[in-house]
Amino acid sequence: MINISSVKKNDYFKLIAVENTLFEKSTLINEFQNFTNNISIKIWKLVTTKIIGFVHFYYVKNEVEIISIGILKEYQQKGYGSIIIKEIKQLKPKKIFLEVSVENTHAINFYLKNGFKKIGIRKGYYNRTEHRIDALRLLFEF
Ligand SMILES: CC(C)(COP(=O)(O)OP(=O)(O)OC[C@H]1O[C@@H](n2cnc3c(N)ncnc32)[C@H](O)[C@@H]1OP(=O)(O)O)[C@@H](O)C(=O)NCCC(=O)NCCS
Repeated sequence: MINISSVKKNDYFKLIAVENTLFEKSTLINEFQNFTNNISIKIWKLVTTKIIGFVHFYYVKNEVEIISIGILKEYQQKGYGSIIIKEIKQLKPKKIFLEVSVENTHAINFYLKNGFKKIGIRKGYYNRTEHRIDALRLLFEF
């Protein structure tokens, strides 16, 4: 069984736990409050026997901006991330765009595999403790 659905209040801590295993900084923690009041903010969970992944994105006027996507380490490279991208494509937005660290080769390859194209670089976009990292801008267009 694979199911993708919008997160509910009682999923919050489970989702943040998944996010914490994958990212240094949480994009979800503050977003949960806004999420219930703002219809443009989407947070979906991917469930098999438990929550194994999530996607956090904005959906405004036919455009999707992916803020973050994550699949638990032990479930990566089994097609689950691509299932989430397919589900977003089902919304039929004109464009899906996102930024990803130039150092995150796994994710870049994942997006390219799912039809995204490189459209630019944002210099020093990410602020890490030791240095700033450029972001690659990626776009999927129908
Ligand atoms: C990026 C991510 C969401 C992809 O999800 P996934 O379920 O692993 O992706 P899929 O199985 O659908 O696609 C696999 C493709 O992604 C890339 N990839 C993903 N994880 C990888 C890994 N650990 N090692 C190498 N390639 C990887 C490869 O291109 C792979 O294709 P291949 O199997 O033909 O080599 C997942 O790896 C993840 O959660 N990464 C950590 C968080 C992150 O960096 N998120 C993206 C930034 S917002």
